[in-house]
Amino acid sequence: MLSSEEIKKRAGANAADFVKQGATIGLGTGSTVYWLIQELGERTKQGLNITVVPTSAQSAQLAKEAGITVSDLDKVDQLSLTIDGADEIDPKGQLIKGGGGALLQEKIVASASKELIIIADYTKLVKQLGKFPLPVEVISFGYKQVWKKILQSGVCKEIKLREKEGKIFITDHQHYILDCYCEKIEDAFLLNENLHLIPGVVETGLFINMTTKAIIAYGDGRVEEIKFK
Ligand code: 5RP
Repeated sequence: MLSSEEIKKRAGANAADFVKQGATIGLGTGSTVYWLIQELGERTKQGLNITVVPTSAQSAQLAKEAGITVSDLDKVDQLSLTIDGADEIDPKGQLIKGGGGALLQEKIVASASKELIIIADYTKLVKQLGKFPLPVEVISFGYKQVWKKILQSGVCKEIKLREKEGKIFITDHQHYILDCYCEKIEDAFLLNENLHLIPGVVETGLFINMTTKAIIAYGDGRVEEIKFK
């Protein structure tokens, strides 16, 4: 049985094969994407010439350190491909993302991409979304009102304001994150729509009908490719 880090490394490194010479790709965020960046950095040293549009300050930093050219979404028309991690993946490829707090930029970059490849270890595959608390990015002003409205809607039993090292977690865009404990999400599409109707909600961690492929790594060394579109 491989260690969890080794499993993530396999998922990340395998996905590098989808990145072609000269490509400009969306680059996700997280501990699995870390390994993708390391692999792309190695290939860059060996002559791969690519540009990445990062989904967070963290990934931008890692890409620069790995010697990869970093660009801005406003400098490109459309991305052929984005590679990102996920917190949950259901059998239709619907996702919960945002465990790392980068969901807003991740969703913007993914929606500017023709293809979204998700890299993950097997523990992220679920029958139904919801066990992982759903991150909802909100404007800091009046966030308790948003909290109240989400609770009143009955979609979740508990909401926690995300904290990091004892302080409120602030996103790259100066927002807060409400982690919503739903347990089971019956209709992810509807929940996403309804959450967007609440004033103050900036984005949700539900990525609906965006995933084209998932690269899933297992403890026994296997790496599986699942196609969704
Ligand atoms: C960050 C994300 C990450 O992609 C997600 O949390 C998965 O991260 P990891 O690969 O570290 O498990 O959505 O906002």
